[in-house]
Amino acid sequence: MMLPFWLASGLAALSFGALSVAAYDPSRTDNLAVYWGQNSYGATHSGDTANYQKNLSNYCQDDTINAIPMAFANVFFGAGGLPSLDLSNICNVVDSGVFPGTNLPNCTFLAKDIKTCQSKGKIVTLSLGGATGAAGFSSAGQASAFGDTIWNVFLGGKNATRPFGDAELDGIDLDIEGGGTQYFDSFVKRVRDLAKAANRKVYVTGAPQCTFPDAYMSTVLNAAEFDAVYVQFYNNFCSLPNFNNPSAWNFGQWDSWAKKTSLNKDVKIFIGAPAASSAAGSGYVDAATLAKIASETRSKYSSFGGIMLWDASQAYGNNRFDKAVKAALGQGGSASATTPSSSSASAKPSSASSIKIAKSAKFTYLRVSTSAIPTQTSAFVWAKSSAPTPTH
Ligand SMILES: *[C@@H]1O[C@H](CO)[C@@H](O)[C@H](O)[C@H]1NC(C)=O
Ligand SMILES: *[C@@H]1O[C@H](CO)[C@@H](O)[C@H](O)[C@H]1NC(C)=O
Ligand SMILES: *[C@@H]1O[C@H](CO)[C@@H](O)[C@H](O)[C@H]1NC(C)=O
Repeated sequence: MMLPFWLASGLAALSFGALSVAAYDPSRTDNLAVYWGQNSYGATHSGDTANYQKNLSNYCQDDTINAIPMAFANVFFGAGGLPSLDLSNICNVVDSGVFPGTNLPNCTFLAKDIKTCQSKGKIVTLSLGGATGAAGFSSAGQASAFGDTIWNVFLGGKNATRPFGDAELDGIDLDIEGGGTQYFDSFVKRVRDLAKAANRKVYVTGAPQCTFPDAYMSTVLNAAEFDAVYVQFYNNFCSLPNFNNPSAWNFGQWDSWAKKTSLNKDVKIFIGAPAASSAAGSGYVDAATLAKIASETRSKYSSFGGIMLWDASQAYGNNRFDKAVKAALGQGGSASATTPSSSSASAKPSSASSIKIAKSAKFTYLRVSTSAIPTQTSAFVWAKSSAPTPTH
């Protein structure tokens, strides 16, 4: 049977459209993971409200970003024994209201944003931890039970208290930097088991600092199965500006960990980078320099999976840093890399130019203030003066 022309052409357009969507493919070497949630730009440019972090779907309008860890589930065991969540100016316990008996903010308005991003082939995951010290477990049993909670509240399970409603997140990201190092493997295993039983793919990533081994994350990195590791090559001696110093730059150690120690020998290692000089205490390099580093690293190490940026708001505030980086990554997406060219000026990176904030923190984890300028000493400023005392 011949299809009517309008239907046939509609179908053709549909299938072409589906093909042209750059779906997240974990086996590729040109993936771009960009954190969203903490409005790092707003925290460092407090007057410039026009460029504060926007709702999630704003960052899913093109094929630039492939994976979005939402930062952070900053409290594991809050009111009602359930976790809490902080997405800065977009959704938080002060402005958004909480589910009764819990400290889980009502972010159900983000369900459609999450689904929009997913419909464009991107994965949206939940980043756990951050600069809080409230991340940790006292036993393997408690960690495993927390796996049930995260599954039910954010992933493929069911619960009356789902901050993102019926949107199902694609996985979890661990950003542990306090609270404890033990039992995280039990947590990850439980989440993986639940996903397997539900016949669902779940992505597990982690964001250690580049110093090897990472003080907080090495235990779980060695004991659980990770799909990708977003190594933070900033705020440390092993940071991007020291790429040409062989005694500093240590991607080789991470590549060796991936091949020899990691339970998943196909784990991908990402180069984590600040998306602007104000996004980290130190470690920023411009897009051309980052592209060159990524290209050289990709041609040398088969574990290379792409680039991670902190964070989306900083990337957009920095002339779409994400887009420049992705364009450069796309050139030579296979193992044989070409030397990317970029239009951006290759100024020598300087840590002196960056704002020194939360140096010891894995990320610059700041809240936006409409009244106070965040400073080195008052790193955590809440969105509203009525907010409770921060736990970080
Ligand atoms: C995000 O979306 C919600 C729901 O549409 C809206 O109320 C809110 O103002 C938006 N936030 C920002 C920062 O645009
Ligand atoms: C959460 O917010 C939505 C509106 O965005 C509202 O319809 C719903 O009743 C709220 N849920 C709770 C538990 O407050
Ligand atoms: C929600 O999940 C928590 C943790 O798994 C559980 O204790 C609670 O009973 C669930 N509540 C509902 C209404 O499903």
